Amino acid sequence: MEMKIYLDNAATTPLSIDVFQAMQPYFFENFGNPSSAHHCGREAKNAVEQSRATIAELLNTTPAHIIFTSGGTEADNTAILSGIREKQIKLAITTPFEHHAVLHTLKALQQNGEIKLVYLQHDQKGNLSLSHLEHLLAAGEKAFVSVMHGNNEVGNLNNIEEIAEVCSRYSAVFHSDTVQTMGQYIYDTQKLKADFLIGSAHKFHGPKGAGFLYKRSDAAIRPFINGGAQESSQRSGTENVTGIVGLAKALEIAYDNREAYQRHISGLKDRLIFKLTNKIPGIRFNGNSAQQNLSLATVLSVVVPQSPDGQSPLSYLDQYHICASGGSACSSRSAAGSHVLSALGNDFEGSTIRFSFSRYNTNEEIDHVAEKLAYLFTLSPAPFEYYNVRMA
Ligand SMILES: Cc1ncc(COP(=O)(O)O)c(C=O)c1O
Repeated sequence: MEMKIYLDNAATTPLSIDVFQAMQPYFFENFGNPSSAHHCGREAKNAVEQSRATIAELLNTTPAHIIFTSGGTEADNTAILSGIREKQIKLAITTPFEHHAVLHTLKALQQNGEIKLVYLQHDQKGNLSLSHLEHLLAAGEKAFVSVMHGNNEVGNLNNIEEIAEVCSRYSAVFHSDTVQTMGQYIYDTQKLKADFLIGSAHKFHGPKGAGFLYKRSDAAIRPFINGGAQESSQRSGTENVTGIVGLAKALEIAYDNREAYQRHISGLKDRLIFKLTNKIPGIRFNGNSAQQNLSLATVLSVVVPQSPDGQSPLSYLDQYHICASGGSACSSRSAAGSHVLSALGNDFEGSTIRFSFSRYNTNEEIDHVAEKLAYLFTLSPAPFEYYNVRMA
């Protein structure tokens, strides 16, 4: 039987069994509503608060700075909408490489006439110009700056410490979408001058539908979701207790084993780069994807040439039960191509494949994938009629 290989971990990751076991009691014995005053409610409330304390400690902050959300999208929306509206900011600065959770939210504010939106200049690899940022901020207008830490499509890492320093110098509010990096990089919020950071459990072997927003300020934020005053009135709705418990456990595991996981995953990435470069002539890499010090260990974005028989490499891999993607999973069903690849503006001929790794992937899987993909480029060209049919 063909083995199933999952290399789409930037889209989502499999749940860890330890995380599942930590969540289990809150489905069954301790299923209470944290807002209930009786002991069932108190047990659930304790679990939520214990999880908040765990996450706060991992980020070197106190629990009041962590707000639970339904995931990364809601946390990004909350940070942007409350961050901008609370301080009546009229200028937002971002990059064309952000996830749609950020870009669409900022563009909606721009279309409403609430803000002017400016994109940072960058080079062909996607490296951002910090001097442009400094130039924009030096004009003196109070700004909201949103720059992601690790890009979900090509893996480029941005130097958010430096960006945070620049923002702090000009009193700009700084939000970083850290969905792809949370658990992989240390965020010491006593040192990093970020106003908002984001976590989403399903990106680090936790459950889907659970995430958090870190806010630097002690002041309460303007809620994005109103209702029963949960999360100190900053995010209403009955807490996703199982999800929150799973989120904290998953983050704890990720940080407890961070270096070992990072070593393993970097090894997988190096191995795939080496094998593909040797086996597929003309292969290219998007952005800084092939440079480990400048990109996420978990993401490798490759451009393969047109295959001789005209097959799409992604559907070819799928036939062999290999899951990879063309870019971000959220956009894979939309008609538009990747906004990240078009913003990079490279003119590579061929198809992009994003491979993304987790601690559960193995060297054997990498070898198998490289072998299979290389085989696609040894197939004979399709007969002329094939192209006629395809073009019809
Ligand atoms: C960089 C980035 N930001 C935000 C999100 C949205 O997170 P969620 O799926 O938890 O809503 C994703 C998910 O792919 C992401 O990669």
